Amino acid sequence: MEVAKRLEGIGEYYFSQKLREIDELNRSGKNIINLGIGSPDLPPHPEVIKTLQEEAAKSNAHAYQSYKGSPVLRKAISEWYQRWYNVGLNPDTEILPLIGSKEGIMHSCMTWLDKGDEVLVPNPGYPTYRSAVKLAGGKCMEYVLKEKNNYEPDFAKLEKKNLKKVKLMFVNYPQMPTGQLPTTELFEKLVAFGRKHDILIIHDNPYSFILNENPMSLLSVEGAKDCVIELNSLSKSHNMAGWRVGMLCGAKERIDEVLRFKSNMDSGMFLPVQLAAAKALSLGKEWQDEVNAVYQQRREKAFELLKLLKCKFSKEQAGMFVWAKIPATYKDGYSLSDEVLYASNVFVTPGGIFGNAGDRFIRVSLCALAEKFEEAIQRIKNQKTKL
Ligand SMILES: Cc1ncc(COP(=O)(O)O)c(C=O)c1O
Repeated sequence: MEVAKRLEGIGEYYFSQKLREIDELNRSGKNIINLGIGSPDLPPHPEVIKTLQEEAAKSNAHAYQSYKGSPVLRKAISEWYQRWYNVGLNPDTEILPLIGSKEGIMHSCMTWLDKGDEVLVPNPGYPTYRSAVKLAGGKCMEYVLKEKNNYEPDFAKLEKKNLKKVKLMFVNYPQMPTGQLPTTELFEKLVAFGRKHDILIIHDNPYSFILNENPMSLLSVEGAKDCVIELNSLSKSHNMAGWRVGMLCGAKERIDEVLRFKSNMDSGMFLPVQLAAAKALSLGKEWQDEVNAVYQQRREKAFELLKLLKCKFSKEQAGMFVWAKIPATYKDGYSLSDEVLYASNVFVTPGGIFGNAGDRFIRVSLCALAEKFEEAIQRIKNQKTKL
């Protein structure tokens, strides 16, 4: 079968290929320590699991659910946004539960892009922005995030581009993969930029609770709902990546537009999952502190490992990764990653998969036990090749 033209230029996702290679290495007895992927290894809160179990045992829990999600979950999302981000959202009209932020990225592209429409995407940035734009028939216009600009868009440079065909801009702070935190000034500039050029800014915000004491929403900027929608997720904040629960928040008109697409794609999530997610969102600060204490301990180990690899990094990063610059002796992050994989049986992600601006970086995930970091450090210390 010939695949559809829309798949031209869309390769298999890097991790899906690499994990296959790692599986093969493991089968040949290598026992690879995977510090690549950002999938939380810790469980959700026990009350969340209990809610899922209790609700799933009820006979009336198994029917199709509303496309707009359960009112219980929408109310919980609204309260969560108010409590943590100081953003008011109408639970009936301004919130759409999703199966993850990733779904929101694709749905946004399918809802708003026509063939040839342009979209600003970050380089380095989450690869799904680029593939979703292409799948929907749009064209990516990359904006480079540089360390010397604190990984913020260079607005002066953007203003010089022809933005006539640009309909959407993806932004993401705390930024993945660089770990850069947002500032109020940056958020205000983004809203002003979106308003000035009539561009819908899509803020992807799944990392705001990880190793960050001050979660921020782009919707907190005054008047933001005119030109911003925000995607959020329980994948990282509540250790629920496999549950597939996220949300899209914004003006009623935007929610209704996405709903026109989404309601033709699927139905609402399994009700017990929605009710358990509502439970998760009601957890207090103790929960975030507990999760962050674990990540903090692991991050210290990650710093140690990166020092061994002679990488340079900022300690002021948020999210569940550490982004680090490789030494000049390596051609790029791919060569360092491959060397560590084949010589030490440790996998770290080459920064180039997030765009060529990441070529001289690697990314270390904090989703592995501290003991695994210890073991990885020992293996690298024993590594015989250059370093
Ligand atoms: C920047 C970014 N956005 C979105 C996602 C996907 O999140 P979700 O599990 O909510 O679909 C990820 C996952 O790795 C991510 O790094």
